[in-house]
Amino acid sequence: MLENAIWICAPCDMGTVSPEFRKEIILRAHVKKASLLASAMGAYNIYLNGKKVGNSVLAPGFTSFANRVLYAEHDITALLSQNSTLSILCGDGWARHNFGFTKRIFAPHISVIAALHIEYENGEEEYVYTDETWKVYTSHILFSALYHGETVDKTAEIKLLGNAVKDSAPHPALHKQTTNVTEQERIAVREILHTPKGETVLDFGQNIAGYVEINICGKRGERIVLSHAEVLDKDGNFYTENMRSARNLCTYVLSGENDVFKPTFSFQGFRYVRLDEYPENIAAENFTAVVIHTDMERIGSFTCGNADLNKLYSNIIWGQKGNFVDIPTDCPQRDERLGWTGDAQVFCRTAAMNFDVEAFFDKWLTDMALEQREDGAIYRYVPFVGWFNGKISAGWSDAAVICPWEVYNAYGNKEFLRKYYPMMKKWVDYVHGAGEEEFLWLGGDHYGDWLALDAGEGKYLGATQKDFIASAYFYYIASILAKAEAELGIDNSETLSLAKNVKATFRKAFMKDGMPVIYPKYDGLAEDRPIKAVTQTSLALILHFGLFEECEREAITDALCDLIRESGGAMTTGFLGTPYILHALSDNGRVKEAYDLLLRKEAPSWLFSVTKGATTIWEHWDGIKEDGSFWSADMNSFNHYAYGSVFDWMFANIGGIKMLDGGAGYEHISICPKPDVRLGFAKCGIKTRHGELSVKWSIEKEYTRYELDIPCGTQAVLTLPSGKTAELSEGKYILIE
Ligand code: BGC
Repeated sequence: MLENAIWICAPCDMGTVSPEFRKEIILRAHVKKASLLASAMGAYNIYLNGKKVGNSVLAPGFTSFANRVLYAEHDITALLSQNSTLSILCGDGWARHNFGFTKRIFAPHISVIAALHIEYENGEEEYVYTDETWKVYTSHILFSALYHGETVDKTAEIKLLGNAVKDSAPHPALHKQTTNVTEQERIAVREILHTPKGETVLDFGQNIAGYVEINICGKRGERIVLSHAEVLDKDGNFYTENMRSARNLCTYVLSGENDVFKPTFSFQGFRYVRLDEYPENIAAENFTAVVIHTDMERIGSFTCGNADLNKLYSNIIWGQKGNFVDIPTDCPQRDERLGWTGDAQVFCRTAAMNFDVEAFFDKWLTDMALEQREDGAIYRYVPFVGWFNGKISAGWSDAAVICPWEVYNAYGNKEFLRKYYPMMKKWVDYVHGAGEEEFLWLGGDHYGDWLALDAGEGKYLGATQKDFIASAYFYYIASILAKAEAELGIDNSETLSLAKNVKATFRKAFMKDGMPVIYPKYDGLAEDRPIKAVTQTSLALILHFGLFEECEREAITDALCDLIRESGGAMTTGFLGTPYILHALSDNGRVKEAYDLLLRKEAPSWLFSVTKGATTIWEHWDGIKEDGSFWSADMNSFNHYAYGSVFDWMFANIGGIKMLDGGAGYEHISICPKPDVRLGFAKCGIKTRHGELSVKWSIEKEYTRYELDIPCGTQAVLTLPSGKTAELSEGKYILIE
């Protein structure tokens, strides 16, 4: 239907003011059904007679605008009256956003497209399309930008600018919107603070992505100005330096009547809000924090007898909510908010346990596939906005294989896997062809073990060799591809032999006598950081990816434990080692050591941030240091989900639930809980597509009690700590050992 509509835009340059496109609709008879299709280059809200149509926030979302923009379909039958005003209010949204570090704007101006189909009860039909008869008005939104916030002036005069004009700029293909960002939760002010600097600050008690809604009745022309922050500094003052250039500033001018203010085309990442200007006595009940993220069904649950671990779990969930805003972003607050592929791939398994994210990843991976280069290359973040000239990084671009696989594994939908198989294969082929050595990935500009602590204070890159990591991941993705082919009934002999060759070559190049060694020829030695062969990350990757020979297992695991001990019982791993280090320990008989790391409270550790009052996962282990000072201002997010990937270990070890090969979608699993007295009890649950699956254990005085709930369609192999095993199918079980 949209083929008959034209893209329209304002007849003149409106600066930063949001345009409103309006069309009067006069009904000819009784309406049986009316459906409206719409999209915009920019962000849009549709209103019918002043009432918002649908519940989307920031539609049409963030896609690869070079390739596609999404349209939504709304049933507006109930909203139509005899004489109706259909209006589409727009802001810059993502399509016209100035992203950090690049000035890329995908559209020269805001434009909209819409088609309304009315079916009358008398059998007649009517179509209304965007065209040059639509009128364009100014609005109360004087400024909006994703990073910078919004200015709304309720006293501004609304002016008719004239008729819309045809937008002759090229537009991308229109695809149907399949996911929806909406308002999800509302949080009241927990406390009104007065900082040492004299600032008045609202504390909502939770770091979120969203915005503040204000209900107020004041004098016409009075102003409200709000700043947003994730944390207070060590003196208790408002701290915004880590937002970098993102202003996150909301300015409102009151109408003199009852006003409800909230951003329409921007969102903020925050826990604290500073009232820079406010007209009257401040009443906490006038403010509500509104949480936004993509609609996703919550399917996972976890609770145990350790309050800190429960808080960590809560922080992981909030990290996901805060960053699953249409695409998997790295963080929701500073001038980035991009779909960094490395962050997404390490967190994907955890994400798929917490919420049903199949549709969410389907949307993002569609853009990834569209942006995959002819030669198979995948950029470091998706959608691509020009920054970094399309560079590629191992551990990041590998998301092209890992994410489709993890999502398939979580839900068992073969069509999903089949859809992304070509992208997976092309990416493995790219890596196969990259660098001089066929079975290694040497050279290249990788992030390495990003933010690891083993290269010294203040370094972004850890000490593990980049080529080592790139080549280890090459083996990992080739192995996944072979499994995916087996699932899809595709001959995988070539991929298996590729994986075998990669492993053999990797071992020759990067290992000697069962231990990692430096491969000096290509690694980025020129870089300003010490390079080490034996690191926690290099050992964890060897163990977790299966790059060892059986006879080496024990010595490598010992070496990993030694390194942890030498670091004072702490991990030094970054983005790529952290997701695997606990698995590497517990899969190799060191369950206690894995728990020790998980439950450690001193810095660096997962629980250190909890002891410092975190309500989301931090980007850095030492985002806030022991003495309360910050890591740095230039890259220090307090809502970065990557290290929250530890939940997949918790689920697979505390709960003990693991998918067996070929058992995607919880069809065939092993249940091997590993109770630890420091937790007392634990319960892990997940609503699988077969039904509710849960494992609960509690350590009593003389025994441990297990309670299992296995849904119909799931076959489980249970192994208890004593070694006792049983094959279980649907049912509820209580066991004591
Ligand atoms: C992001 C990361 C991302 C990285 C690439 C950062 O600025 O916030 O999370 O993966 O760049 O190294």
